[in-house]
Amino acid sequence: MAKILVTGGLGFIGSHTVVELINAGYEPVIVDNLSNSNPKILDQLGKIIGRKPAFYKLDLCSQADITELHDKEPELAGIIHFAASKAVGESVKEPLKYYQNNFFSLINLLEAYKGKKLNFVFSSSCTVYGQPDELPVTEKAPIKTATSPYGNTKQVSEEILRDVVASGSSNKIISLRYFNPVGAHSSALIGELPIGVPQNLVPFITQTAIGKRQKLTVFGDDYNTPDGSNVRDYIHVVDLAKAHVAALKYMESGVDFGGYDVFNIGTGRGSSVLEVIHAFEKTTGVKLNYEIGPRRGGDVEQVWGDVTKAAGQLHWKTELDVDAMMLTAWNWEKYIKDNPL
Ligand code: WQD
Repeated sequence: MAKILVTGGLGFIGSHTVVELINAGYEPVIVDNLSNSNPKILDQLGKIIGRKPAFYKLDLCSQADITELHDKEPELAGIIHFAASKAVGESVKEPLKYYQNNFFSLINLLEAYKGKKLNFVFSSSCTVYGQPDELPVTEKAPIKTATSPYGNTKQVSEEILRDVVASGSSNKIISLRYFNPVGAHSSALIGELPIGVPQNLVPFITQTAIGKRQKLTVFGDDYNTPDGSNVRDYIHVVDLAKAHVAALKYMESGVDFGGYDVFNIGTGRGSSVLEVIHAFEKTTGVKLNYEIGPRRGGDVEQVWGDVTKAAGQLHWKTELDVDAMMLTAWNWEKYIKDNPL
């Protein structure tokens, strides 16, 4: 079976992608330094898949670790690169940590496998768009000055990938610009595991509903949106995982796309914070304790993606709706309450 290296493969999106790679007949090989993931997710993956995928605890910023990885896995059909620091707020406080980790890991990986004919999928983000001038935002939208060092690492990483291909690399490369990944696997055996107080909306919702948090604060309802709260393109993490398989298949198909391209990966629809809260309450039957608070600095007012390019070229589109996102996130929250990892 074609081996696919999954860096950050024990993380939220990485672990769900490992499952979809197996479902698609690939052999995933996980690399993770466990700086922002739980090693027990490997056991959870074993329960879903029926066997534990290969796993190396390695730090891609370490030359020695990269050399060890290449010696052990010289022949890969592809790489899906998730491993990166990704907390927007933390990146503002610790920019050098973000620039070192996100750039060194990417560059070391590209250096180790340059000259190989492999397909490389990069985990990028809609954050590269900032507040778009037009909605839905397309891949042709202007890339604005990043609003955080985290966002800047995604913008510059995309430029690095584009330049590597332009230099004549034998790698084919696709960047997937995610919108807001939420939800969990239908088995409730894997899901989002925020460390400490959740920064993101949906884990804060489920932790409030389960009683870990006293109440949710909605960061502002005075925006120029239908109900005043921020609008985002929330995408089920399983749909997102399947987009990575679609990107690999697209590169394997031999279609000439110039060696590098970018795709929006979202639902193409926007949902407000209050709509998400109401969807949670409706699908779970749990009344959520929330209040309206002040705006959060750095939040863009509304953003959702135009996903026609991925539909037309990757032959991929989302299948799961916001209700499924809420129900699976809630089932996962209940699972980890009864089965702490
Ligand atoms: C969503 C909405 C908040 C928490 C970030 C990154 C992005 C990507 C996804 C990595 C906003 C509101 C949130 C809360 C709230 N990450 N909210 N109360 O900021 O859209 O995107 O995560 O790629 O790059 O920027 O996601 O979940 O933090 O916020 O009202 O307690 O929920 O104001 O409107 P965001 P989020």
